[in-house]
Amino acid sequence: ARVVVLASGGGSNLAALLAAHDEPGFGARVVGVVSDRPRAGALDLARDAGVPAVVVDPADFPDRPAWNRGTADAVAVFRPDLVVLAGFMRILAPEFVGRFEPRILNTHPALLPSFPGAHGVRDALAHGVKVTGCTVHLVDTGVDTGPILAQAAVPVLDDDDEASLHERIKVAERALLVETVGRVAREGVHVVGRRAVVGA
Ligand code: GRF
Repeated sequence: ARVVVLASGGGSNLAALLAAHDEPGFGARVVGVVSDRPRAGALDLARDAGVPAVVVDPADFPDRPAWNRGTADAVAVFRPDLVVLAGFMRILAPEFVGRFEPRILNTHPALLPSFPGAHGVRDALAHGVKVTGCTVHLVDTGVDTGPILAQAAVPVLDDDDEASLHERIKVAERALLVETVGRVAREGVHVVGRRAVVGA
């Protein structure tokens, strides 16, 4: 399956997907990377791996709808079977989702529906939970609200701060994302109500 990855940050999730290329039978290949940030580390990772990388910077567009269209066009060029949001820190408009659903996966560093949004790690820590984790889900028009595909639990340690907890989550998250992208690529996914089931 042809996978396009959208990333805004360092790209450790992207790196894990690129490394999975070498796994026999993975069934997915990152064919393009799109970022909203010109200096995102994910772009360097893509280029080092010989994967085309495109920046769609909101600063280059007159308004948000134009940026959304530009991002969707940049993704469509790669003819994706799956679109993976891996640390993409922008909310995609319904038009974007409509163009690619139900083939958009997102990874979130908390056990949804708990702690959605841009500060899931910080919010879980502040709430005092003893277990948090990460979630891979299908993207719908809400924020972190789509049907859940996979989750992994991660313990919160007493001396954790946001950084140490996020790093521990990311270890589990990278593995969960690679496993889930591979399974969806090989077996597909179908949704019944709110329940998403991988495999035809
Ligand atoms: C990931 O934990 C992702 O869930 C969150 O931001 C982090 C991005 O990490 N939205 P990276 O850029 O993939 O290293």
